[in-house]
Amino acid sequence: MGDAIVLLEDIVRDYGEGEAATRALDGIDLSLEPGEFSALVGPSGSGKSTLLNIMGLLDHPTSGTVTVDGTPTDDLDDTGVTRLRGRTLGFVFQFHHLLTGFTALENVMMPAAVDRGRFSTDLRERARELLDRVGLGDFKDKNARHLSGGQKQRVAIARALTNEPELVLADEPTGNLDTKTADRVLDLLREINTDTGTAFLIVTHDEELARSCQRLIRLVDGHIVEDERTNSSGTRQKS
Ligand SMILES: Nc1ncnc2c1ncn2[C@@H]1O[C@H](COP(=O)(O)OP(=O)(O)O)[C@@H](O)[C@H]1O
Ligand SMILES: [Mg+2]
Repeated sequence: MGDAIVLLEDIVRDYGEGEAATRALDGIDLSLEPGEFSALVGPSGSGKSTLLNIMGLLDHPTSGTVTVDGTPTDDLDDTGVTRLRGRTLGFVFQFHHLLTGFTALENVMMPAAVDRGRFSTDLRERARELLDRVGLGDFKDKNARHLSGGQKQRVAIARALTNEPELVLADEPTGNLDTKTADRVLDLLREINTDTGTAFLIVTHDEELARSCQRLIRLVDGHIVEDERTNSSGTRQKS
């Protein structure tokens, strides 16, 4: 288990204090391995987004340890966290969060450019390749405002891949799309997983989709109640 991308040990996350306190995560132990294509399911309010935010170093647990790419994150300062996150993780959210005043290409480059302080030639080249890969090569100079919902989400996927992350955390990436478009976006994620070995953890409400993933993790009331992998012969096994 030494090479887990993200290792969570006894994670608790409370929101609020006293009477109003909610325990969103209640002792989560979980390890995500390189190359895994996993689904995270559970009822609304079960803690899925909270779990993703903690894995993604966007939020701190109340207690417990988060280790990313072999680095325990407890003692890291903000710069250390940002650097670790930037080189290991990518994010796709339900709402694409594209900057509408900018082109598709600029949106793909933006986080890396902010990091590096400039739009370099190699960054531009990489962004162009990524837009090709998500099938939007011809739309690179189009203003994000004028793209369809599915196209915007493809741009968001390309953007998540800019820094060649080991793991992409996707919180209901197709929740805002019609079924057909959602299927295409998911096929794309699978294709990227197969071609590049990038691991994915995808939050979804779609049980059928979840069962088709290599690994299915189910959260209820802040607890993992199911964690199963499908082996190469298609049989499910408890992890
Ligand atoms: N910022 C917050 N402040 C207070 N409670 C929150 C906050 N975010 C989430 N919660 C609560 O934590 C629990 C888990 O929420 P969440 O992680 O968003 O679940 P899910 O993504 O599975 O719907 C819920 O009870 C929710 O109301
Ligand atoms: Mg959520």
